[in-house]
Amino acid sequence: MQIVIDSANVESIRSLNEYFPIDGVTTNPSIIVKEKRDFLPLLREIRAVIGNEKDLFVQVIAEKAEDIVKEAHYICNEVTGSILIKVPVTTEGIKAIKLLKEEGIRTLATTVYTPMSALIAAKAGAEYVAPYVNRIDNLTGNGVEVVSNITRIFSEHNLPCKVLAASFKNVQQLQNVFLSGAHGITAPPELIKGMITHPSVEIDVNQFKEEWLNQFGNEGHTLLSTQ
Ligand code: E4P
Repeated sequence: MQIVIDSANVESIRSLNEYFPIDGVTTNPSIIVKEKRDFLPLLREIRAVIGNEKDLFVQVIAEKAEDIVKEAHYICNEVTGSILIKVPVTTEGIKAIKLLKEEGIRTLATTVYTPMSALIAAKAGAEYVAPYVNRIDNLTGNGVEVVSNITRIFSEHNLPCKVLAASFKNVQQLQNVFLSGAHGITAPPELIKGMITHPSVEIDVNQFKEEWLNQFGNEGHTLLSTQ
């Protein structure tokens, strides 16, 4: 099961990677552009923060399959560590996924809106598909149901492709896709932090502390100084 940060903000990634069990970082052109920085230095800084083992997903912008392959080579040559190339599920994109698979370059099929496009991408050799849950919901579809149908098709037909569900606006959507069998999620830092947010936690922690201090006084500020 994977939890991936959908952001290119180095400080957010650094902080979340330090405190939370993070498996990698996904980017897309919009996410990169938001940082207003040069592309390769930004990717290299993210790599330095997460280390070489964790997955860094980088999306192509070329449209023709051969050009997508060239961009994939460029990214793999310029950025170290575990790289996955995000390829949109256009006709050219599917061809590119097949070509990259033959070369052993790992891909994630992105902009997935239907189980059928996920199936084709998986059969072409994508290691992951990324269904866009919130964008599907915005189109009056059912993003969680799409994820559920994709995981069912992959499982029933033994397709070794994983579902990294993407595009979220709330924690309820995250919970629902995990319940529907997604292998992982990629979400903005605030939503990942939101996975442990509940007002009762602070109330409980404060109550425990207050009762402890009432008994042990100032020495009770830490268990280490409590006899
Ligand atoms: C990740 O792979 C996608 O690019 C991203 O999750 C899209 O999210 P959005 O719909 O919030 O832009």
